[in-house]
Order: sequence, then C-alpha cells, then structure tokens
Amino acid sequence: MPTIPTPHYKVHVDGQLSQINSLIKKHGSSSVFILVDQNTKEHCLPALDAAIEKPYHLLEVVAGEKNKSLDSCNYLWNQLVEHKADRHSLIINLGGGVIGDMGGFVAGTYMRGIAFIQMPTTLLAQADASIGGKLGVDHKGLKNMLGIFRNPYAVITHTPFLETLDEQELKSGYAEVIKHALINSKSAWERIKSQGTQFSNDNWSKLVTNAVKTKVQIVEQDPTEQGLRKILNFGHTVGHAVESFYLGTPDHLLHGEAVAKGMITEAYISFKLGRINIIELEEINSLLESLYTLPQVQEKDIPTLLDLMRSDKKNKDGQIKFALLNQIGACDFDIDVDEALIKESLLF
Ligand SMILES: NC(=O)c1ccc[n+]([C@@H]2O[C@H](COP(=O)([O-])OP(=O)(O)OC[C@H]3O[C@@H](n4cnc5c(N)ncnc54)[C@H](O)[C@@H]3O)[C@@H](O)[C@H]2O)c1
Ligand SMILES: [Zn+2]
Repeated sequence: MPTIPTPHYKVHVDGQLSQINSLIKKHGSSSVFILVDQNTKEHCLPALDAAIEKPYHLLEVVAGEKNKSLDSCNYLWNQLVEHKADRHSLIINLGGGVIGDMGGFVAGTYMRGIAFIQMPTTLLAQADASIGGKLGVDHKGLKNMLGIFRNPYAVITHTPFLETLDEQELKSGYAEVIKHALINSKSAWERIKSQGTQFSNDNWSKLVTNAVKTKVQIVEQDPTEQGLRKILNFGHTVGHAVESFYLGTPDHLLHGEAVAKGMITEAYISFKLGRINIIELEEINSLLESLYTLPQVQEKDIPTLLDLMRSDKKNKDGQIKFALLNQIGACDFDIDVDEALIKESLLF
C-alpha cells in the first residue's frame, strides 16, 4: 500500500497498523500517549491497542468542535505533566480533525514541542486535516485562532476506520475532496461529478491517496501559507464564518457542510467576477446541493457573518481576502471582494 513521502515525514496509507511499533522504536519514545475521544475510543482504539506493543497512557477528551479549546488543552497539558511526559515522549492522535489539530497543538507546545503521530479516523482528517502541519484550537468563538505550524513525526492512515463513520460525517469529509478537485484538477472534478451522490461506494484507499498527494503537493510549495497554500482556503472564508456562526446552536454544521456552503457562495462570487462561467457555477451548485442540506442565510445575520469574515486569518488591514476559482480546476488567492457582492453571494 502507498507510502507518500514529503520532505519532512511520511504518510502511510493502509499499511499494517503494527507499523506503529517500528515508528516508536525509530523515534526512541520514552513514553507513549494515545489521544482519543469517546467515539474513537470505542471504534478505533481496539485495533490500535491490539497492534501496539509498548504500554501507553490513554488521554481522552469529549468529542466535538466545541471542545477544540484551550480548556481541553489545559487538561491535556496537565495530564502530560502528571504522567511525567518528557521531551522524548510521543503522542498518537487517534481521531478526526479535532483530535489531530488539538493533539498536535498540545504536543507542539509541550516542552517547546514533542513528537506526535497523526492517525486520522475520519474522511476529513484522512483526506485533508492530517496533512500540512496546521495545528490549533478555536478561541472566543473564532475558528483556529490559536495555533502553530509543526509537522508530525508520521501519518498513519487506515481507511477501514471509515467503516464506523456515519453518512453525514463521510459527506462532511467529502467536501474537502471536492474542494481539492475544484482548485486543482478538472479531471478529478469530472470523476466526482459523474459519481454524484454515490461517492461512498468509492475505493477509499485510492480516493484518500489522491487527496493526500494533492494536499502534499500544494503544501510543500508553501508550508507556512505565504502564498499558493491559500488556495486550499477556497470555500473557507465564508465556510469558517458560517461554521462559527452556527456553532453551539441547533443549526450546528459540520466543518465540511460549512465548507460546502462556502464553496457555493464563493463559486457565485467567482462567477460574478467573470472568473467561471454559468455552466461551471451550475455544475458546482447542483452537485453540492444534491449532497448537502444547507442553511439559507437570513438577511439579518449578514452583519455578524461579515464581522466573522473580517476576523479571518487571511485578511490584511481588515480587508476580507478570498481564494476564488479561475475555472474548474484552477484557483487564485488574495482577491479583494466588494462587500456588496459578498452580501449578494450570501443570499444566493
Ligand atoms: N489542520 C488542517 O489542515 C485542517 C483541515 C481541515 C479541517 N480541519 C479541522 O478538522 C476539524 C473537523 O474534523 P472532523 O470532521 O474529522 O471532526 P471530528 O474530529 O469532530 O470528528 C467527527 C466525529 O466523528 C467521530 N469519529 C471520528 N472517527 C470516527 C470513526 N472512525 N468512527 C466513528 N466515529 C468517529 C468523532 O468522535 C466526532 O464525533 C475542524 O476542527 C477543522 O477546523 C483542520
Ligand atoms: Zn477545511
């Protein structure tokens, strides 16, 4: 099964879980911690527990985006101190993007940084979040406000973990796969379009491998997001605002669902600026609307959404910056968009 090398670490897709043992040996780990939430403890830990030879300490947090917080980090840092983690300890992040982002941040800040292995268990984390070294937590209602860039020691991706994910979580992850196609590959888009809503019959190993290769290729050209990497934010300027807006409300959206809403909105902006044509816009809309049930933005909510967008990390001097399509399969970044057009697009 494929191992995808990056200049800094390797991504192992669908090897044996027991390869964790050789990685621990190579790292020379003094102690090992496995971070889970209650769902990955139930569905994923048994397989890892059967494979891992070295004794480990289990760290557990409550699942969910609202626990991707400094409070959870505080608890985890305390646990590391109590269990005498030292500079040679290793943390294995067994979970979705929340566990990977937060566990990586905890590892990357503990004693100025200890090693961690990403073991992603959702489609979103396997295809996207586990790659690229962006780590962090939400703060004051804003997505990923606190964080660092730091590469994992390795990524071990085991696609059989996806079997216990529900349909809504799979679809959420698939939004990032669609994003990779829209910004980078017309041929991948054609494949995705022809599968329509039947994507979950796909060969996960192949789909995840392709997504990882795309992300690695973009991230390695610009690891700290000074330029090109910003195209990965297509759908995320609006997506993060919508995700933050509904966080903790009954209309709460999964990350990928918010990104789907963001991609529809930002494809509309791309169309209005003459960057894509009406046929491309309709293709994008029709696929995303057939896959996701998305909220209709109310006019009264627009000022709050705009405020959230003004807090986006990609902005400069309070000017909201977008990554927009040039055509299906190509994307540009740092584009200023007039607020009137942003408002219009949110109501589209
Ligand atoms: N670092 C990055 O580059 C990057 C990229 C994209 C997204 N993200 C972040 O990722 C997060 C979203 O990730 P996510 O969608 O994986 O969310 P998540 O980690 O909350 O996982 C979703 C749900 O699935 C459960 N779960 C995980 N694996 C399971 C399995 N195998 N079987 C059954 N249930 C399982 C979890 O407990 C959780 O309830 C967001 O915080 C987002 O900001 C980060
Ligand atoms: Zn995302």
